[in-house]
Parts: sequence; C-alpha cells; structure tokens
Amino acid sequence: MSTTHIGPAVLSWDENGQPISTEFDDVYFSKSSGLDETRYVFLQHNDLPERFTQLNACGFFTIAETGFGTGLNFLCAMQSFLENAPDQARLHFISVEKSPLTRRDLEQALTLWPELKHLADELINNYPGNIPGFHRRHFARGRVQLTLIVDDVVIALSTLDARVNAWFLDGFAPSKNPQMWQPELFQTMAEKSAANATYATFTVARIVRGGLSEAGFTLERASGFGRKREMLKGHLEKASQNQQPAPWLKKQISPKQQTALVIGAGIAGASTARALADRGWQVTIIDSHKEPASGASGNPQGILYARLSVHDTPLSQLVLQGYRHTINLLKHAPKEIYSLSGLIQLPDNEKELQRHQALNACGRFDAILEGLSSEKASRLSGIEYRTDGLFFHDGGWVNPPGLVNWLLDHPNISFTGEQTVCALAKEQDIWKVVTTEGQPFQSPVVVIACGHLAAKLTPTSHIPLKAIRGQITEVPSTPESERLNWSLCAEGYIAPAHNGRHTLGATFNFNDPDTSVRPADHKANLDTVSSFAPELAQALEFNQLDPKSLSGRTGFRCTTPDYLPVIGPVMDEPVFKREFAILAKNAKAKIPEAAPWLKGLYINAGHGSRGMITCPLSGEIIASHITGETAPVSKKMMTELHPERFTARRLIKGKNKT
Ligand SMILES: Cc1cc2nc3c(=O)[nH]c(=O)nc-3n(C[C@H](O)[C@H](O)[C@H](O)COP(=O)(O)OP(=O)(O)OC[C@H]3O[C@@H](n4cnc5c(N)ncnc54)[C@H](O)[C@@H]3O)c2cc1C
Ligand SMILES: C[S@@+](CC[C@H](N)C(=O)[O-])C[C@H]1O[C@@H](n2cnc3c(N)ncnc32)[C@H](O)[C@@H]1O
Repeated sequence: MSTTHIGPAVLSWDENGQPISTEFDDVYFSKSSGLDETRYVFLQHNDLPERFTQLNACGFFTIAETGFGTGLNFLCAMQSFLENAPDQARLHFISVEKSPLTRRDLEQALTLWPELKHLADELINNYPGNIPGFHRRHFARGRVQLTLIVDDVVIALSTLDARVNAWFLDGFAPSKNPQMWQPELFQTMAEKSAANATYATFTVARIVRGGLSEAGFTLERASGFGRKREMLKGHLEKASQNQQPAPWLKKQISPKQQTALVIGAGIAGASTARALADRGWQVTIIDSHKEPASGASGNPQGILYARLSVHDTPLSQLVLQGYRHTINLLKHAPKEIYSLSGLIQLPDNEKELQRHQALNACGRFDAILEGLSSEKASRLSGIEYRTDGLFFHDGGWVNPPGLVNWLLDHPNISFTGEQTVCALAKEQDIWKVVTTEGQPFQSPVVVIACGHLAAKLTPTSHIPLKAIRGQITEVPSTPESERLNWSLCAEGYIAPAHNGRHTLGATFNFNDPDTSVRPADHKANLDTVSSFAPELAQALEFNQLDPKSLSGRTGFRCTTPDYLPVIGPVMDEPVFKREFAILAKNAKAKIPEAAPWLKGLYINAGHGSRGMITCPLSGEIIASHITGETAPVSKKMMTELHPERFTARRLIKGKNKT
C-alpha cells in the first residue's frame, strides 16, 4: 500500500500559465489543450455524452476519478452531463486527491478555461481545500454531487461505499508517480464498479495494463491525444468476487415509490427531508409541535463548536467533516440566519490548554484553526481576553429555526404539525403510522428523527438514547458588547449580539425532565461566561441583571453512550440478537448480508450538543442509505454510526439479555 505524503500541492507555473507539480515534476494536463484532452480521453472514451443522453428521466450516473488536481475533469464532466442528461437525472462525481491545490492556485489554474467560468466559480466557492477526509458538495442546483476525498487514492477508494459507472484513471505519469499505479488500485476499482463499468486513461504503461487486466478490465488501445501515440480504454468484464454490497446498500425501494415520511421537524429531520427532496423524493414531515424547530432545534443561536481531537477518532473525524459541511451549506443560506465571523475556543483548565496546544501544533487542522495569543485576540476583537485561545476563522453561529425552515422550503416537502406519533406498524411493505391526534400516515420509508423521544417508539426503544436537559439564557447587548464579533466557547458559550441579544449556554442536567425555564439556570449560565470572559461579563453588566427577569429556553439534547449519533437502518432487535449471537464467541464474525432490517425504517438521532455540525451531514448519510447512492462518509464511519452498534457490542461482551 502507498505511503505517500498528504498535504497541499506545491506548484510552479510555466510560460503559458499552466500548473506543474513540483513534487512529481509533471503537468496537470496536456500543454496543447487540457480541455480538449479531457473531453477526448475521459469523456469520449467512456462514451459519456451518449450514456448521459440515454439515462432514464430520473437516472443516476457515478464517475470516479483518481487525482482531482485542478478539477478540470470534474468541470468538463459536469458540463457534458448538464448539456446531455435529462433534467431530473443526477450525476455523482467522486474524486480523490492527496495534494489539494490551495484555493488561490485553483482559482489561477481555472482562469485558463473561460468557457467553464460559471461552473469553475461554483467549484471555487465550494472548494474544501486541504482538509483530510470526505467532502460532499452540491452543484447545478443539486443535479451534480461531488464527493472529494482528501487522502491517498488507494486508501480512499477502499473506504468508499460506491458503485461506479465510469472511471477517469488520471494521476501523474506512472514513470513519475509509480506509488499510485499499484495492483491494489485496480483491484479496488473492480470492487467498486457497477455492472458494465468503463474506464479511460491517458497512459498505456505496462504497469497499468497489467494491473487493469489482472483486475478483470478489458484493454483497448485508442489513438492518444496530441503528441501521445496511444491511450487505453475498456470495461469490467467480470464482476469482482470481492464485491459485497453492505446490507444497507441494497436498493429496496422502487423509483415509483420515492416517498418518505420523516417523524420530527428539528435539524435532523429537516436535513433528512431536504436530502431526499433534493434527490426527487416526495417527503412528508410531521411533528408534535405546531411549528418546525420547536424542540432542541428551537434556540435563537446555536454555536458551530468543533471540538476536535489530535487523535483521529471517529468522533473527531465526524466533527471535522460535519463542521466543514455545515459551513459550506450555510454559504447558500439566507444571510440573516447565520454569522461565520469567527469563533474562539478558550481553555478553562490546564488539560484544555494542552489539548488546544496539541491541536495547533499537529498541523492537521491548519486550514481551519490557529493559535491566538490573548494580546492579539484583545487587539483584534476590542474585547479583553486573559487567556490564549484557538481561533476558528470561519466558525460562528446559526439560528436553528431559520436553518430548519430554510431546509424545509422545498416543493417536494410538506410539513404537518400537531401530530404526535404513538405507534408504527408494517403492513405489506408499507409503514402505517398512528398519531395521538388520529391522523393516519403511511409510507414505504419512514425516518424517525424525533430526538430522545425515539426511545418511546417501540421499534427504536432498544437504542440507548438519553435526554440531557439544557437551558440557554438571553441577555440584552450593550454598546460595548456589540463589539464582540466572535463566538466564545469554553465550558459554556456566548454568541455575538443578534437582534440586540446575546445567547449564553448552556446548562447540563441528567435525569431532569423539567421543561420550565429556571432563574437558577440563568444564574449558572451567567456565572459560566463570567468565569472565562470576565471583561465581557462586565461589559454586559451581568451584576445588574436579575436572573428572574431574564428570558431563555429549555430543551433536551439526545445523546448516546459513545457520543456519536445513530444514523441508519433500524433492525428487528430480537431477531438481530438471535442471528448475531455468534458475535459473543467471535467478535470478528462476518455479519450476514441479510441483516434483519425492519425494511424501510431508519433513524437519525443522538446529535447531543453538536447538532449544528452533525445534523446537516446526517441528512446526506441517511439519503445514501435509503437510495443506495455513494455515501458521504467512509464505510467505517457508516458502521460507527450504525444504530445497531450497541446491540452488537452487548452481544460481543456476552450481555445479550436486555
Ligand atoms: C440548551 C441547548 C443548547 C444547545 N446548544 C447547541 C449549540 O450551541 N451548538 C450545537 O451544535 N448544538 C447545540 N445543542 C444541540 C442541538 O440543539 C441538537 O443537537 C439538535 O437541535 C438536535 O436536533 P434534532 O432534530 O435531532 O432534535 P430536535 O430539534 O429535538 O427535534 C426533534 C423533533 O421531534 C419532535 N417529536 C418528538 N417526538 C415526536 C413524536 N412522537 N411525534 C412527532 N414528533 C415528535 C419534537 O417536537 C421535535 O421538534 C443544544 C441543545 C440544547 C438543548
Ligand atoms: C495529472 S493530475 C490530475 C489532473 C486532474 N484530474 C485535473 O482535472 O486537473 C494528477 C493528480 O493526482 C494526484 N495524485 C497523485 N498521486 C496520488 C495519490 N497516490 N493519491 C491521490 N492523489 C494523487 C496529484 O496530486 C494530482 O493532483
């Protein structure tokens, strides 16, 4: 397996303004015309214009590429798709890049192609840059999705949950980049290929021919582009023996029945509904409250608080990816519902200080955070700080109800309030949903997104979800506090003024179902903020405030034992325990393909204290479960988030009695 370095691309520019990789001493595309080369080699020799034209009205096509580089191949594929495919059809483009261009270099490189300018601008605005891991982006009003994975190609492709129709086998010349063109690459391509998958590549090097042929691809030579004598194209002749679709990847729902019911209209439910609606599904979303965003998602300001770890844990990976995902999403949202003017994390004890220092020093997060001394922070913000902090330059806050309502504002989504679901039953592949108000609902696909109250619904009652009460406090801004431009986070948080008020949060109470707003909790919030931002507390005249006359809001977070959300299919727990009893003897036993799924039933909950950064991404994850499309996270992450992981862990520990 390759051990190449992951990091930003170092470029030089030739006399025609074309980029050259310093690391590989090779060009990104043909010197004569990169545009024509892409169209000839990758589009024409994968027969893409024709295949796009022949797609069904709601068809779906997946391309995967090795080496995103300047994104030229992506832009050309998108342009051809938009020109040739039916209006409702969608393209998914997967690409892997171990050395992403900086945004500035990307901008410079793409000025070479004026005819692609409007698409290139969209790419530049959504470009994730040098942040490791998966990035999901939408283009052309949702008709084109990009999954860009910043990693080594062999590693990245092996973690991917996808079925690829056409491969763009790019990457620098095998003679200059032999580490990439390894047998594992071609084997993984075969494993990730859909039936009749094709490929095209500019090279006919022996190592490439040998690898492709060994993996089951045909080898057809064609005339090369420009000065190149030959190129290679072909298709997968024999499906890979290793091709094992994950149980949740099997498409169960016919396209005629693309309807879903979502229970719960908080950020998790709204993100789910929107992801499905963007894929052409008709979604009904219901909630026990009259209006959406009346549960935990109803606070005036929610902080985008990315609590990262230097250890590459699943939680830290999810937080990083979710954080970037929400920030990118908000760039498309109405300006009045968020502010990404910056966020500072202040350490409130020695351990936190060390964590901050380690995060700053490790270099992995340089694209999103930097260490900030107290002097510099005070000078820049005009608010005095006593401790050094970690500065997230595009962190900030969002108004959750604004986000929920914006997500639900889609012609394929209809909302019905004042419907409290009390029972779900399956009748011939259709879920019948009963509410206490008596209005019946039914759908082949149901997503339970009702936070901790999912534990009250029989099919999900075995999933260990816990409610944690929390209260926020609102305080009126003062002329001095209006200068606070950044969100401040430590044990608690305070957001910059919005409509003349700051939101302070939030208390934490276990086993406390009290829904009232308590003055004692307001006092606790004021005390927390005073402890890490005393000058701000002074500027806000906390000592003059009477907790009894402050306004605020109480809500219930929903958490899980491992602090990761539960996102995915719901299993028939008694059957699961019976069929997976083998895990007690052999924790590594292969999970049978046909896991006892309650067909059509999914859950999206357990977002704890970080729903602003995990919920929008969760919608994409659930949609990929439901439609069988490429997942926006790695296969490993899908497993980490799987709702039945706790049952499996109990079985492994020999505790199979509930
Ligand atoms: C005080 C507080 C402060 C917070 N601060 C932050 C923050 O700064 N940053 C951050 O990222 N996160 C924060 N969070 C967490 C964040 O708010 C949650 O993670 C997020 O809102 C969860 O969204 P959800 O859609 O899963 O749940 P909810 O928003 O609770 O939505 C669930 C919905 O389901 C409905 N429902 C429940 N049962 C039923 C039923 N049987 N039938 C029909 N409908 C039903 C409810 O009415 C509700 O509308 C905070 C949470 C609290 C409580
Ligand atoms: C010829 S350029 C690709 C051009 C690109 N397709 C475009 O449209 O601009 C090759 C790209 O592959 C990337 N690359 C090389 N080896 C890689 C590897 N092992 N894993 C991931 N990316 C790699 C390089 O960093 C470079 O961006």
